[in-house]
Amino acid sequence: MTAFTLESVTKRFAGATALNEVSLSIPSGAFVALLGPSGCGKTTLLRLLAGFERPNVGRILFGDRCVASPRHHVPPEERHVAMVFQSYALWPHMSVSENVAFPLSIAGVPAVTRRSLVNSVLDRVGLSGLAARRPDELSGGQRQRVALARALVQDAGLVLCDEPLANLDVHLRASMIETFQRLHHESGRTFVYVTHDQAEALALATEIVVLEHGRIVQAGSPRTIYSEPSTDAVATFVGRGGLVEAVLEEPGHGRAVARIAGIPVKVRASHSALAGPARILVRPENVSLGGPIPARVEGLVFRGSHYEARLAIPGGTIVADLNTPGGSDRLGVAIEDAWAVPQESAPPT
Ligand SMILES: Nc1ncnc2c1ncn2[C@@H]1O[C@H](COP(=O)(O)OP(=O)(O)OP(=O)(O)O)[C@@H](O)[C@H]1O
Ligand SMILES: [Mg+2]
Repeated sequence: MTAFTLESVTKRFAGATALNEVSLSIPSGAFVALLGPSGCGKTTLLRLLAGFERPNVGRILFGDRCVASPRHHVPPEERHVAMVFQSYALWPHMSVSENVAFPLSIAGVPAVTRRSLVNSVLDRVGLSGLAARRPDELSGGQRQRVALARALVQDAGLVLCDEPLANLDVHLRASMIETFQRLHHESGRTFVYVTHDQAEALALATEIVVLEHGRIVQAGSPRTIYSEPSTDAVATFVGRGGLVEAVLEEPGHGRAVARIAGIPVKVRASHSALAGPARILVRPENVSLGGPIPARVEGLVFRGSHYEARLAIPGGTIVADLNTPGGSDRLGVAIEDAWAVPQESAPPT
């Protein structure tokens, strides 16, 4: 079943087109990560889904019910959508359990039911012992859990999250990613999750949507976005690696040979790839030492389990993970696999 559909949705503000003819269909139970640079329209898309904004053009459907069009608007309180914000947006004068119970009170849920729903959701997010505290007596991660509990306690099939982990440190983020993952699985709800952080998107999403200047540049599974990015921007925004100028030969059946400084490298390519100049995306796991391509070490960073090396090769800079820092700044490398990024003029896949 489809959770929601956007049909050519355009949203303009005075002086800015925040979303430009965005079309998207998301199945129920998906975890969608909305990814893209600042100002690309991520929050606007969430606000349109929640009903806080109205589209200038196009329609939004929940299942097969139209909730928004230029002439028709279902208000937020009738959409059964819950939101989690970066800033938590908790009531400072209310306890944890009062904050979580608040949307249930508004919805007229009787006190007894309210108490049992709140206790059960606090248990699920690991906050049972803190029900009586006020937000200023909690850590950032605990506050974010309260906000998540408040979203999950509602009878909402769609949970919208706007950069919920942006204010947390690296360790808390990692543990909250697991919490989001578990609660998504357990609840079976559809999540739309805005983030700047591509690692978060790859870890959580069943579906990634990359926006740029108010348009979708690519939508697909994390694996597809990672291994077959449709533009240079997606290639460099998601995952590690580097783009290398090369000449593509013998394209066909999703494969090609890329010549890098005359040396042939077998690559994957789109079915519409053409022979000629191209850019090749090389991921660290595609690079091995002792090959024919000359490389110069431009930077070396210790990452605990390995050294991350920035290597200049003919046509570009790539990243390789090395076991030891090595003695020389001149190496020979082999590229085992790579992706020929479609030319910008080609239609996105
Ligand atoms: N209420 C508004 N009035 C005018 N312009 C707006 C309004 N809301 C958003 N915009 C503009 O629309 C564009 C998209 O904004 P949006 O907040 O959706 O971006 P975003 O992708 O969420 O960015 P960020 O990652 O910085 O949060 C921006 O150019 C922004 O300035
Ligand atoms: Mg935003």
